Amino acid sequence: MYICICNALTDRDVKSAIQTGASSVPKVYSANQCKPQCGKCGCSIRNLLREMKTSPQPA
Ligand code: FES
Repeated sequence: MYICICNALTDRDVKSAIQTGASSVPKVYSANQCKPQCGKCGCSIRNLLREMKTSPQPA
């Protein structure tokens, strides 16, 4: 599922950035070599960050 339409980032891209150490929204973008454009996805990325912090994914 696409999280960021502007940069074609999927939930997998975002989760894998978080799993490899991205701890904030800007870090998720830079881990995927992109920058925020319209900003509409910020909230969804923040939610994923929060979800994954509270329930760590199995390695
Ligand atoms: S949807 Fe992510 S910057 Fe526009």
